[in-house]
Amino acid sequence: MNFELKALAATQIAPLNVDVLIVLVPDEPTWSDAGPILAPLLRTAHEDGLLEKGAGKTVACFQVHGVKASQLIMVRCSSCEPAGIRTAVGAAASLLKHPRAKRVGLVTHLLKLTPEAVASAVQAVAHATYVYTSTKPSAKARHLERCLVLADQTGHLKSGLQLGRARVAGVEFAREWANRPANHATPSMLADAARKLGKAKDFRTQVLGPKQVEQLGMGAFLSVARGSAEPLRFIVMEYNGAARTDAPVVLVGKGITFDTGGISIKPAAGMDEMKFDMGGAASVLGTFAALAELRPRINVIGLIPACENMPDGLATKPGDVVTSMSGQTIEVLNTDAEGRLILCDALSYAARFKPRSVIDIATLTGACVIALGGVRSGLFSPDDELARQLQQAGEDALDPCWRMPLDDEYAEGLKSNFADMANVAGREAGSVTAAKFLQKFAGGMRWAHLDIAGTAWKSGAAKGATGRPVPLLLEYLQSEAKHQAPVSSKAKSRSPASRA
Ligand code: BES
Ligand code: MN
Ligand code: ZN
Repeated sequence: MNFELKALAATQIAPLNVDVLIVLVPDEPTWSDAGPILAPLLRTAHEDGLLEKGAGKTVACFQVHGVKASQLIMVRCSSCEPAGIRTAVGAAASLLKHPRAKRVGLVTHLLKLTPEAVASAVQAVAHATYVYTSTKPSAKARHLERCLVLADQTGHLKSGLQLGRARVAGVEFAREWANRPANHATPSMLADAARKLGKAKDFRTQVLGPKQVEQLGMGAFLSVARGSAEPLRFIVMEYNGAARTDAPVVLVGKGITFDTGGISIKPAAGMDEMKFDMGGAASVLGTFAALAELRPRINVIGLIPACENMPDGLATKPGDVVTSMSGQTIEVLNTDAEGRLILCDALSYAARFKPRSVIDIATLTGACVIALGGVRSGLFSPDDELARQLQQAGEDALDPCWRMPLDDEYAEGLKSNFADMANVAGREAGSVTAAKFLQKFAGGMRWAHLDIAGTAWKSGAAKGATGRPVPLLLEYLQSEAKHQAPVSSKAKSRSPASRA
């Protein structure tokens, strides 16, 4: 969908050639700001109590005299903050079901928009109108073609539009890939998607197969893939937006394209949802898609270990001991704790980039869903500054996370009589013990872990991927880029991977 800003005097709103007008109405408006045709209408709706205070209250009218658009939706927005705008615009946009609604205009003349609010409005329209189509082409693809954000003046809002577009591109990329069923999102297919992204200027993608992964000594990753007929892929993506000497941020995404649990098999009910177990990988792909739009001055590496976790004659058995790339041995007490096994080797691989920070993103534990639900992702990091930055990025992008503890006492349960560690501890604090396991592979790196098991997808009638935490990651990368000095095109050359 096409998002644009359009500077428009209030008198020009009514004659504007769109199918639908959405008018944002704040708590204490100056009615005349909406122009002579809309003002009396809005005022009446307000005085009749149809637009009670509280974000998201809507009134829809059709064929309003003097208004070119066939539908007019008024919506109350209780604040001009991005969160309030998101609620209001989301409520109005969810009414855009009619196939003739191809062009929509968002009237913001009654409020003072910030660039952040524009970004959030754009996201809300996209979110409310997204339709999954990869394996359901009959689901009518989104009919909305164009969304114009209308304001008196738009010059100061351009950066917000750009940010909104990039977030939408990234979130929709992640949603579409995470929504695909496992037979339409195999490790090889994820690799192909990454290769496509790698064709853009300053992007590069490299894909390793089982032989190369074995040569690297990634015994933990290999042990998860053993039970599957689908060959594993290790995807290495690069975006070079800064000088070659500039240390990159590394993003590591869990890419389990289907998690049966392996020999420690999961119950049948709801197992289909384990197609979303590559939500971390999808968020890395989505973030790269967004980087292609925003092109911030920063270097970013994306690492995706991708495979299926299946039971089979060749599958890893409970009690098997495997050797990770780091040399540490792991007793696999539960083959369903597979995410940490693929991530630990990817973290070891990350060290070669001498990153300024490493963030892994994973649908890692059911325990995190119990702890935080679908509102906030779990954030784990021993580094206070990195944790603060990520928490702030989540707040700013309306994609929040919450810091969890990493006291060493939590690692007690990972002790094993037969290896350097076990891959599971007891039932208690399951999301924390998983993070403690990963921490053993973060070495001296500035590392953070995001457990997105509760936030990456929704269950029930609205079953589907959310595209989180793409907005958080993008916000963090942008804030990191702001600390960067501008680069001359000479200083900027080959890829950071070529240093490896
Ligand atoms: N992919 C799951 C985590 C998960 C479970 C995400 C439910 C979302 C909803 C992960 O691989 C897993 O199976 N974790 C186990 C770990 C346990 C065996 C220590 C879990 O959380 O039950
Ligand atoms: Mn599992
Ligand atoms: Zn899993």
